[in-house]
Amino acid sequence: MAHVTWSQNWNSRERMQNKEEAATCGFDCKDLIKLFSIPPMIPKNVPKQSTLHDGISRRRFIQAGTAALAFGAGLKMGADQKSKSPGTQGKPLRLGIISDVHHGLQPDAIKRLESFIQAMEAEKPDLIIQLGDFCYARPESREFVEVWEQFKGPRYHVLGNHDMDRTTKQETMDFIGMRAPHYSFDAGDFHFVVLDCNYILNDGEYVNYANRNYFIEQARRDRINPEQVEWLRADLAGTQRQTFIFSHQAFDENWSGWSVPNRLEVRAVIREANQKAMDRTGAPHVIACFSGHHHIDEVSEIEGVQYMQMNSASYYWTGGKFGSEGPRAVYSKPLYALVTLDPSGQIGVKGQAGEFHKPTPADTGFPAAKRLTAAIIDRTIKFPTAGQKG
Ligand SMILES: [Fe+2]
Repeated sequence: MAHVTWSQNWNSRERMQNKEEAATCGFDCKDLIKLFSIPPMIPKNVPKQSTLHDGISRRRFIQAGTAALAFGAGLKMGADQKSKSPGTQGKPLRLGIISDVHHGLQPDAIKRLESFIQAMEAEKPDLIIQLGDFCYARPESREFVEVWEQFKGPRYHVLGNHDMDRTTKQETMDFIGMRAPHYSFDAGDFHFVVLDCNYILNDGEYVNYANRNYFIEQARRDRINPEQVEWLRADLAGTQRQTFIFSHQAFDENWSGWSVPNRLEVRAVIREANQKAMDRTGAPHVIACFSGHHHIDEVSEIEGVQYMQMNSASYYWTGGKFGSEGPRAVYSKPLYALVTLDPSGQIGVKGQAGEFHKPTPADTGFPAAKRLTAAIIDRTIKFPTAGQKG
């Protein structure tokens, strides 16, 4: 398997149970530890949508006197299960990442997910996360979701556009057991943010994806809503941990024209947070943004942030008849990656590599064939940490 080192030369769980976990929660913990005299809980009436979370910092929640509610909501709402904060501080954190499995469109999607889950059961990463376009929320997908749930560790979801092809966003989240469309959590030494770019802009109003309503011009779809951008700003301000962002659609310039149309708003928030962190510690706050959606294996750097597009588990969408199965250029193996985040300043990606089923995109003359790979290549990427100038 190819091995690429890109660093300086860039060309190329249940509930919070004790104070120790409080120290990993990402809040300013002195006051929070007092909160543990409040029965730790996730209220049964926590809204499934993130209305509690949108645009309001966690500190403001606490100031508003809704500490227990916010605490449970803010930390746990994205996971599809209640779990402890994953990982161990001071040690590398290992994540299993899979994206764009496309159950309902890719006939063997369930076998591909089974392969990933079996590998993760053997590897035992600290958490697994899927980056969207997972399945249609319908009874035929229940078995598929049950495969996902076989992984016994913490599991996290990101919403993809096709996840709302047959249902509303809320119906999709209910089906896969996702408690909020965007959220954040801590794991190991790091902070993680999951964003939802499944909004369309209609006459100045941001509207959730539902039942394929996003088949409109690109400029008005795949957008992040302003309230979420402000939520991101507040969320980053609420933690000093180095942070990784997950989304389905990308904020980079790869495959330009198909990334989030208002991605510069997100990058401006990241730039602001990173400048503050650089001034304070000499190291950036946001290290990398992982995305799916484009079904490609590419990494780019913008303003010191790594934008990592994770390939689909299943196929590349060529459209027309350029694929091995009509518009799909199907991969011979299910693709996924085991990503290790070392607090000493290194991202390690260990991916799966296969081939295209025949005829391949090159065989059919697909114009962008040279750019495509049926693989997630291994990579090692260095990043600055506090105290390491540059
Ligand atoms: Fe997608």
